[in-house]
Amino acid sequence: MQTPDIDSHLDDMAALSERLAGCLSVREARLLALAAATMPTSLGEVLEIGSFKGKSTTLLAKSVALAGGDRVYAVDPLIAASDTVPAMMESGENLPDVFRETIKSNGIEHIVEFHQMRSQKLAETWDRPLRLLWIDGDHSYKGAMDDFDNFAPFLQPGSVVVAHDVLHRSEGPIRMFCERMLLSRAFGPCGVCGSIGWGQYLGPDADTDAYTPEKIALFRKMSRLIQFAALGRDQATASSFGYQVLRPLVPHGAVDPQKWRAMITSNLPRK
Ligand SMILES: C[S@@+](CC[C@H](N)C(=O)[O-])C[C@H]1O[C@@H](n2cnc3c(N)ncnc32)[C@H](O)[C@@H]1O
Repeated sequence: MQTPDIDSHLDDMAALSERLAGCLSVREARLLALAAATMPTSLGEVLEIGSFKGKSTTLLAKSVALAGGDRVYAVDPLIAASDTVPAMMESGENLPDVFRETIKSNGIEHIVEFHQMRSQKLAETWDRPLRLLWIDGDHSYKGAMDDFDNFAPFLQPGSVVVAHDVLHRSEGPIRMFCERMLLSRAFGPCGVCGSIGWGQYLGPDADTDAYTPEKIALFRKMSRLIQFAALGRDQATASSFGYQVLRPLVPHGAVDPQKWRAMITSNLPRK
């Protein structure tokens, strides 16, 4: 794809995201679409953990198609009673029906291979390399760590991991992002956009020293938020106040698509 195309695609995905029900801001939708449109299909598959009503699934599928791909794997038990399902269900909605309708009405049925089960179950049989891993499922500490640990062995040097809600008050995403990505020598460039934490896996043998100062600086700012996420939403006002003061200090603005793409591409293995 020529680089100018990406800007109009991201504008389209931003507009589409505003029409879709789900849990992504426009800034986050643009980053997710950018990542899916950037990663070369030769590096492996795209896997989404946590589909809900199909918003991120749709953005991924349309962006993968733009990059010449033909498949997005997605996994979610879609059980409305689950305590990790956001409180966004309108009464009487059947989540599997809503998901299927989103996929159908956006013309991506042929691209999405959906597994209606927990990600831990899918991990038991998963055997494919991954170019993009999107984690937006169980936000508990164990759930988020399981998702990373179960699927990280399938990352290739150059693959990208994107995790949602690292700046929300769920314990799992922020701790997983800090512990497994920012503090890992196997990750190169990392950042936060909206509430998405992203990072490029370069492998255990890669020289990632050049990225360490920025990763540590981000870790310092984010690690101060972990106490609030771990203590939960219903803490005393003082805790909430601390969170409100510290959260904006984490840089989480929009990425420049051309620069982001150039950086990620420069770290891909040479053919
Ligand atoms: C925040 S929502 C995902 C939002 C979605 N990505 C979007 O774009 O709107 C979290 C989803 O994770 C799913 N989930 C919870 N535990 C899961 C697990 N163990 N494996 C896969 N999905 C899970 C929930 O059913 C819920 O639909």
